[in-house]
Formats: sequence, structure tokens, C-alpha cells
Amino acid sequence: MPAPHKTKQKRGLWSSRLGFIMASAGSAVGLGNIWKFPYITGMHGGGAFVLFFIFCIVTVGLPIMIAEMILGRHTRKDPVGAFRAVRGGCWGVVGWLGVIAGFVILSYYSVVAGWAVDYLWLSIRGTFSAAHASGVPELFSGLLASDWSQLFWQAVFMGMTVFIVLGGVSAGLERANRIMMPVLFLILVILAVKGLFSPGGKQALHFLFHPDWSRLDPPAMLEAMGHAFFSLSLGMGAMLTYGSYADEKTSIPGVAITVSIMDTCVALLSGLAIFPIVFTFGMQPSAGPGLVFKTLPIIFSQMPGGSVIAVLFFLLLVFAALTSGISLLEVVVAYYCDEKKWERKKATLIMGLLIFLLGVPSALSNNLLKDLQLIGGRNFLDSIDLIATNYLLPLGGLLIALFTGWVLTTGLAKGELEKGAVRIHFFPVWYFIIKYVSPVLVAIVFLHTIGLF
Ligand code: TRP
Repeated sequence: MPAPHKTKQKRGLWSSRLGFIMASAGSAVGLGNIWKFPYITGMHGGGAFVLFFIFCIVTVGLPIMIAEMILGRHTRKDPVGAFRAVRGGCWGVVGWLGVIAGFVILSYYSVVAGWAVDYLWLSIRGTFSAAHASGVPELFSGLLASDWSQLFWQAVFMGMTVFIVLGGVSAGLERANRIMMPVLFLILVILAVKGLFSPGGKQALHFLFHPDWSRLDPPAMLEAMGHAFFSLSLGMGAMLTYGSYADEKTSIPGVAITVSIMDTCVALLSGLAIFPIVFTFGMQPSAGPGLVFKTLPIIFSQMPGGSVIAVLFFLLLVFAALTSGISLLEVVVAYYCDEKKWERKKATLIMGLLIFLLGVPSALSNNLLKDLQLIGGRNFLDSIDLIATNYLLPLGGLLIALFTGWVLTTGLAKGELEKGAVRIHFFPVWYFIIKYVSPVLVAIVFLHTIGLF
């Protein structure tokens, strides 16, 4: 990712269309795909949840991603500034909501990313080799049992995130992104193929794609919809901010479609890699947040060359988490730089520190603070994840859809959408969806959850 963040007075642009796609995909593809998607799919019974998630991506996620990018490119501002620029008044609140969501999400995201860094360290030390195979599933409970380890790795991850955002994102990272993403994809394909040919492969396929609609209760629907927002980095202005660095020649629908497809494929591949292991080894699909950390290392410790693949996999997982983490921090920093005229360095350091502090209760949520539950039966980390993902993001998305469909003028939306490529018929379809379909769907799922239907 290039200079956009470096220039304060003059806003920069992505160096190319590919740079824009890779940055957006880097934001979208992260722990949401590899850690969260498989575990929530397991908790909500598989097939029906997966199909409803894909339905949400198409009817709500993709249209809102286009809306965010259009708003960003049209205004060339941070989220708060963008809403104020089009229509003053209280719409700036939507941007504010985004800044808060970014703050909250990164606070616990960095804790989970810390687990991944810990696993990278373990894999470098050769822990996932045949000699140690028997103890591998217990490693995760060992990590969760230590508050200090979690705090330490969370700090390491936040440090790396701050470091990258501080420098303005360098060309080096943009180049690294281009290599790392395809390699991550390749490893997931290998693991998925290997999984499908293992004894649990057939059962995994059945679990993931055979819908049992009775499992799709209101909480599952809300979770699927919230996750569509989380996975695509929507509802809080991250894609809006990235869109504000896009040049006039880039076709926004093209980018948004590419990113959505990549993101969905990575999630499904992770599921295909993880569930065969679950069924082959008689584990519980509903094992919860530790699922990816308990399953994949088993395979690493058993396959030839597995210890090398383990290092590569966790390196890429950390990298995927970093490219998402910086997009979360970037929204917060962009707000303080653009609106409050802070210096970039000051904004990054102060906000990074505050976000780290807010993350501390999440890091301690398995031991010292295990009784601190905002929502009954869920520790602090899981509680704020639920609040941010299932409520803040869809609410933000709903408001963004309403703003785009009803406040932004039709001509402006059409002009922005068709820059770079005129797809006849695309505009009316998208406009209808963003104006009516997406808001109504989000509202229905919300009302459904609070028991109004
Ligand atoms: N999409 C990322 C993931 O799947 C997380 C993320 C990055 C995010 N930026 C975001 C989520 C903005 C919501 C909003 O891991």
C-alpha cells in the first residue's frame, strides 16, 4: 500500500488498481475468515448457516461495499468527514460510530491475533513435529491458561500494527501483500484437498453444505449477517477510507466483486481444511474460538514436511491479521488526522496505546477476569465481539445503505459507480438493492432477534 497516508495536506492515491484491490482484500481477508468463520459455522450447525452467510454477502455485503467505496472516492475524506461533506447535520454520527467500532474491534482482534503470533513462535520452535504430536491439541488450553502470554503476544501484535501504520504504509508491504495472499490461498487449497480425501472429508462436506434449516434460528441469522459485515470489513468506514484513495479510472463494482469473491473463497477453504480434521479425529464442531488452533496443528504434526508448512501457515495467518489490523487502526487515525488535525505520528501512537489498553480485559478474559461477562455465558472478549460485530457493524451498514440510497443524489451515485466502466443495467439493480433490499434485510434480522416476529 502506497503513500496515501503519508501526505497530510494532499491526499494520495493507490499506485494502481491492483494495489487498491490487494489493500482491500488484505483488509477483508483476516482472522474473520480463518479463525472466526469456521468456529461460528461449527457452533451454528453448518450448512444452513453457511448458505445464509453467502446470501448476506450477496444481498447486503457486496452492495454496501460498493456504497462505502463510492462515498469514499466521491468525498476523498475519512468516514466522519465524508458524511458531513455530503450532508451535514447528524449524519457525521455514522462516521463516529465507525471510529468507535474500529477502536473496539481492534482491541480484541489484537488478542486473537496474538494467539496466532504465539502459534507462529511455537511452530518456529518445531513444536508441531511428529515427535510432539500427542500434546498438540492441549497447547491451546495451555496458552489460554496464561494471562501473561496472551498480554505479551497481544502487545507484540499491536506493536507491529502501530509500526506499519506509523510509517505510512510502505511499498514493501504492498509488494509483500501480492506474494503472501496467493501463497496463503495455495496452502489453504492444499490443506482443503488433503482434508477432503481424509476419512472425515465426506462428513465435512455434508456438514458445510447440506442445510438443516431448523438450525437457522434468529441468533444464527444475526451472527451470519454480522459476520458478513465483519468478514468484508464493512459497516464502519474501512472500505470508505480505502475507497477515498482510489483513482477516477478504477471501476468500483469490479474491485468490490473481486474482493468479495476472494474473501468468501478463503472462508470456505478454511472450513474445508478444518472440518475434515474435526470429523476424522472425533472432535466437536462446536468447540468454540479455539477450533482452528486445535485442529490444523494436528495435521501439521502428521504430514511430511508439516513443521515447515506450519511455520508458513502461521506466518501467513499473522500477516493476514496484520493487513486487517492496520485497516482498523487506519480508520481511527484518519479521523484524528483529518478532522482533529493531529499529526499522524501522535494519532497513531496514542490511539494504538489506548486500543491496547482496551484490549487488556480481553486478554485476561480467560483467567483473571473470567467472571467479567457483559453478556451472560460469554467472557469479555466474546461479549464485545458479539456487540461490535452483530450490532454495531450491521447498524453502521444499515445507515450507510440508507444514506447512499436516500440522501446521496441518484445522479451522483450513478456517475461514481459507472466511472471506469459502464455496465449497462448494473446501476439500477445495485441502486434498487441498496435503497430497499439491504436496509430491509438488516432491519428484519434485527427485529427478528429482539423477538418482534
Ligand atoms: N475483515 C477482517 C477479517 O475478516 C477484520 C476487519 C478488518 C474488519 N477491518 C475491518 C472488520 C473493519 C470490520 C470492520 O478478519
